[in-house]
Amino acid sequence: MTNMTAKRAFITGGTGGVGACAAWGLARKGLHVVITDLDQEKCDQLAREIQAEGHSAHGVALDVTNRADVETVLAKEAEQGGVDVLVTSAAIVKPAPILDFPVEDWERILNVNLTGTFHVCQVAGKQMVEKGFGRIITMSSVNGQIANSFRGAYSCTKGGVDMLTKLLAAELGKHGVTANAIAPTPIDTPMIQKVHGPKDREVWHNQLPIKRYAQPEEVASAVCYLASDDAAYINGHILNMDGGFMASGILLD
Ligand SMILES: NC(=O)c1ccc[n+]([C@@H]2O[C@H](COP(=O)([O-])OP(=O)(O)OC[C@H]3O[C@@H](n4cnc5c(N)ncnc54)[C@H](O)[C@@H]3O)[C@@H](O)[C@H]2O)c1
Repeated sequence: MTNMTAKRAFITGGTGGVGACAAWGLARKGLHVVITDLDQEKCDQLAREIQAEGHSAHGVALDVTNRADVETVLAKEAEQGGVDVLVTSAAIVKPAPILDFPVEDWERILNVNLTGTFHVCQVAGKQMVEKGFGRIITMSSVNGQIANSFRGAYSCTKGGVDMLTKLLAAELGKHGVTANAIAPTPIDTPMIQKVHGPKDREVWHNQLPIKRYAQPEEVASAVCYLASDDAAYINGHILNMDGGFMASGILLD
């Protein structure tokens, strides 16, 4: 049984594929989970489902691009015991060739995926430093390390999230706060179902040594591990959850 010093988790993008599984996983480990996302009713609905299984959760609408709201929502959390585990899962994606990448989409994606992650990490990070304990877990992607075609702004934000995570790890480690990123290949969630057609799936399956996409529950297992006491000395790590993709070259049958 994994030990958990952490008591309360705060999840952005918490009703999405990965965020919801992370919420379930952490709630089943005994943490109170705060599910935040754009839609209050969806956050409440997930919180009710988690409560119905006997766990502790509540929902809060939060757009991570709104700095004032990030500060207000996290100040309320501080009154309730504060954030021990932060999972930043909120993100958006739009595929397009780099030379035709629309500027307005570039700015929108940077704002949500990178600046939004920064807002939440900065505000929650200050609370964690005050407490002398914290686990920051950012959702990155292998797209932050290699240039898959047509990922444009999304890939650039994930490279930025990796560096933000390393900066947090370097500067907050002495305060008992760790920061690590999880960098998956495609996961079967609404995000990927929107952007991958049958042809994309075939190409990816051929390139993935494990020959299937990750399941969000598998990513949630890594979140729970990084939040646990067993991971206390893991800091500044980018955990590739890629079925061996980044380790392999040409795959022959
Ligand atoms: N699905 C994949 O294949 C895949 C692969 C690698 C990395 N990731 C990363 O994992 C994380 C979760 O992805 P997912 O597959 O669960 O995606 P998803 O689309 O299912 O969930 C993302 C959630 O973020 C929320 N969101 C969007 N904009 C927001 C904003 N401004 N403020 C707050 N919330 C906002 C959405 O409402 C949604 O619920 C993301 O960071 C993504 O980049 C996903």
